[in-house]
Amino acid sequence: MKKITTVILTILLASSLYAEDKTKKAKLASDMRTMLKAVGAIQRAGFYNNKEGVKIAAKTLISNLNSLIETDATTYLPDSKANAGKFAKKRAKMIKMYAEDLIVSIETDDFSESLEDYNQILKQCTSCHSRIRQRQWK
Ligand code: HEC
Repeated sequence: MKKITTVILTILLASSLYAEDKTKKAKLASDMRTMLKAVGAIQRAGFYNNKEGVKIAAKTLISNLNSLIETDATTYLPDSKANAGKFAKKRAKMIKMYAEDLIVSIETDDFSESLEDYNQILKQCTSCHSRIRQRQWK
């Protein structure tokens, strides 16, 4: 009887961990989609010379970095990537830094610096994506 209870408990625990893991992945994917929209909106607003639009999109980007920081990066980065957690947190930090700088650059009409900030944001995305796109989640 004790054995059966243990087995049942193990299954319950495993499935609840699985469910939690799925929720986290769904949240990460949803935040990623919001980030992509924000990046697109920055570009669009830039082309239309809409300074307010750039600032709003940069703020949206900043406020959607949480799941990037909270998700265990070892679940999606290859084992060869030592310090996966550090790497992911660094990317999130850099995206925040460049998005904040973009807001300042736009306010001060510094367009070449704005473009540099935008490029740097994209570089952070691709430096992680070039690593994960070759493989599935663990
Ligand atoms: C540290 C790693 C990392 C960084 C940085 C990162 N991503 Fe992702 N991204 C992921 C992971 C992990 C997934 C989900 C796994 C997959 O789809 O292969 C993902 C998925 C996505 C998706 C697909 C979401 C879906 O619908 O399933 C989009 C779009 C996306 N990212 C956009 C971005 C943008 C835009 C940035 C930069 C502003 C960015 N990502 C930065 C790791 C990262």
